[in-house]
Amino acid sequence: MVKICCIGAGYVGGPTMAVIALKCPSVEVAVVDISVPRITAWNSDQLPIYEPGLDDVVKKCRGKNLFFSTDVEKHVAEADIVFVSVNTPTKTRGLGAGKAADLTYWESAARMIADVSKSNKIVVEKSTVPVKTAEAIEKILTHNSKGISFQILSNPEFLAEGTAIEDLFKPDRVLIGGRETPEGQKAIKALKDVYAQWVPEDRIITTNLWSAELSKLAANAFLAQRISSVNAMSALCEATGANVSQVAYAVGTDTRIGPKFLNASVGFGGSCFQKDILNLVYICECNGLPEVAEYWKQVIKINDYQKSRFVNRVVASMFNTVSGKKVAILGFAFKKDTGDTRETPAIDVCKGLLGDKGRLSIYDPQVTEDQIQRDLSMNKFDWDHPLHLQPMSPTTVKQVSVVWDAYEATKDAHAVCILTEWDEFKTLDYQRIYDNMQKPAFIFDGRNIVNVDKLREIGFIVFSIGKPLDAWLKDMPAVA
Ligand code: NAI
Repeated sequence: MVKICCIGAGYVGGPTMAVIALKCPSVEVAVVDISVPRITAWNSDQLPIYEPGLDDVVKKCRGKNLFFSTDVEKHVAEADIVFVSVNTPTKTRGLGAGKAADLTYWESAARMIADVSKSNKIVVEKSTVPVKTAEAIEKILTHNSKGISFQILSNPEFLAEGTAIEDLFKPDRVLIGGRETPEGQKAIKALKDVYAQWVPEDRIITTNLWSAELSKLAANAFLAQRISSVNAMSALCEATGANVSQVAYAVGTDTRIGPKFLNASVGFGGSCFQKDILNLVYICECNGLPEVAEYWKQVIKINDYQKSRFVNRVVASMFNTVSGKKVAILGFAFKKDTGDTRETPAIDVCKGLLGDKGRLSIYDPQVTEDQIQRDLSMNKFDWDHPLHLQPMSPTTVKQVSVVWDAYEATKDAHAVCILTEWDEFKTLDYQRIYDNMQKPAFIFDGRNIVNVDKLREIGFIVFSIGKPLDAWLKDMPAVA
């Protein structure tokens, strides 16, 4: 029986390993983590992450060929294949601060693998890492190997949160990079055999190590670039009276461009896009390519611009101040169908409104009050460390209340900001919401999900990203 161990039971390690266990009954999978609460949650009915379909997969395999444990060393020692899916935060200090990836957790995992191993192993990079990390890991492993042979593979994960299980069941592709030596090719084949149990062979791409590592960063940079491109257009649409949905549709029907990922919004979020682009920027700078670095940096700048543009629009529309006004925030997660708030645009929007002394009442169906308070008081980049190592915030943000119902959040509010595209926000009783709000009642739709005509009929003043402006908003001071 092949034994797999995955270090890191997070958004990537948990779902990917659960699906491998489900699809490969002859493989024994252990997912290990240094975080005790995380492992306890994986072994309970309340899994630590929300992901449609995940509960079902875990229930089918847990205790059979899928195990969650804090006994990291034991399971690593026993494994034939070790996946490493630990955090790779952006460095906040020293060389490359604010851009380069911090490989502390990766390095300590590699040293531990070298320490406890008594048999040959394939070590698989699952975390997104800077190009050439495999080489560094290889050095750590071989210099500490005590005669054991390690083969390093890069197998970056392309799942999207919110559709992780679907993506893992039917991936567009699985990418495996390895050394171009006979041993390297043998290791690639061993991992390919695992995936081939449910993924068609022509969807399993094999490359050299560096191509696999760079492809992951490139894929995320391209995806984020599409969002920044359409968001840049949305600003121009608002200024000119064009409608960004019509423009995106017209552009996306060109088969060379395609329709996906062209929804204008308040901005992209999530743990990967910004971090991976910063990483790419740093790699370009280190390789003497400042123009290329500048090019990709712009994707992040437009994203920041889109968030501050949204805040400015809210404040400018409401007589240039939200001081003391109640603003309802519907949605805090970085997208629907996940409870993940890492780098969610809601953080910057809320901080912007708090900066103008607004009072916020926040509702998200999957995000807890504790998480929201942490997010609003944490420093940039602190989120990407194991939970028990994150600096605790000394105070909670007093002007923020978190409620468990959209009607409660909007009661007596002056304005509603929709920041996540949860389906339930499309079917709310907006007449009831309007009746219970202060007047004039504003809705700022950061995800373009509401029926604007219907809401205007009810009496709302509505702002939608990239759409022709309400007469009211046109008369308000221009926003930068
Ligand atoms: P996460 O923060 O949810 O999980 C990482 C886990 O690793 C944490 O539970 C932490 O306690 C554990 N850990 C850290 N050091 C450890 C050690 N030495 N031994 C044992 N456990 C340790 O992070 P997530 O989202 O799963 O991401 C992991 C990697 O995958 C990152 O490099 C990320 O960039 C990448 N990635 C993330 C995707 C996503 O959608 N979240 C998609 C594709 C890649």
